[in-house]
Amino acid sequence: MKYIIAQLPGDGIGPEVTSQAVRVMQQIGKLYGHTFEVKTGLIGGVAIDLTGSSLPPETLKLAKTSNAVLLGAVGDPKFDDPKIKERPENGLLSIRKNLKLFANLRPVKVYDELLEGAMLKANVIKGADFVFVRELTSGLYFGKPKKRWETSSGRKAVDSMYYTEQEIERIVRVGFELARLRRKKLTSVDKANVLESSRLWRQVANEVSKNYPDVTLEHLLVDTCAMSLIRTPRDFDVIVTENTFGDILTDEASMLAGSMGMLPSASLAGIPAKGEHIFGLYEPIHGSAPTIAGKDIANPIATILSLSMLLRYSLALEKEASAVEQAVSDVLKAGYRTCDIIDETTGTKQVGTQQMGSLVVKALKG
Ligand code: IPM
Ligand code: MN
Repeated sequence: MKYIIAQLPGDGIGPEVTSQAVRVMQQIGKLYGHTFEVKTGLIGGVAIDLTGSSLPPETLKLAKTSNAVLLGAVGDPKFDDPKIKERPENGLLSIRKNLKLFANLRPVKVYDELLEGAMLKANVIKGADFVFVRELTSGLYFGKPKKRWETSSGRKAVDSMYYTEQEIERIVRVGFELARLRRKKLTSVDKANVLESSRLWRQVANEVSKNYPDVTLEHLLVDTCAMSLIRTPRDFDVIVTENTFGDILTDEASMLAGSMGMLPSASLAGIPAKGEHIFGLYEPIHGSAPTIAGKDIANPIATILSLSMLLRYSLALEKEASAVEQAVSDVLKAGYRTCDIIDETTGTKQVGTQQMGSLVVKALKG
């Protein structure tokens, strides 16, 4: 089969990590007889520099005519001035909104190999394996009113946590469908003791649960969830939550996996199901990390695991997706680590971005 993959490297370490994932993809192509035609586009700060827009129309067109999108990261401190209108992050938010990528899957898996160097106690996090389903095109990020204005008593600003029942229903269904394929437990996270949008969220989640009698639904307040992620991470299977809550909680959860550099994500335009081709954008959850950009030290594993999700959800290539995961796991077992996940006391070998990419390519089995 032939597939067109849009590669959007973006800013900072984005180009370094996506190019390693592309190498892994081409090796998968060789081993399994697929052709991946990679077409590169601009997004983020680099796109602003070259075209004036964080998401040039050609990039959107490229994404729409591809089978899936692989993205690095956006963000550059030179755009930090709050007075600047066009920010790199706008590009990412617009592409998510334009392509209707409402379901953001962020799996969190604690590898046994990384337990030693973990910041958290090994006996608490060992075996933790869950997936966040973050709503991605509504909520506090997009709700109106969203503005800033001046009054005689000073400056004011507002963002709105806005949800329709349809938006809640479709994302909660993603949670239930995923839970059905896993350990059949869904945790819906909200702030229903305070927020009206959360009370609607909880009500809709309860309504949707009637269609999934085989899945156990529990509700958790977002503050309690923040604590439980660290205290009892093994209790979670699938967690579904609002856009901003999901953004914050997944950065927290990345510490279980050892580093932000270990967490992949899939942003999907539909409900994932075995054998189906769901259009999606795939990116590591980490940012552009400008301070380490260009040094060949960034961890490419989050992006390589994002490629694995691309193969699984957008191309329905389950065997190939598992082969990528297995290769990553084998390289970690063999003791290779980038600097963000190294623990000097355990005799592991430190490698850079490109070498980690080469090791995964070599570990791939056909
Ligand atoms: C993420 C990032 C983005 C977000 C930023 C870069 C806009 O933090 O993907 O988690 O907030 O969604
Ligand atoms: Mn984030």
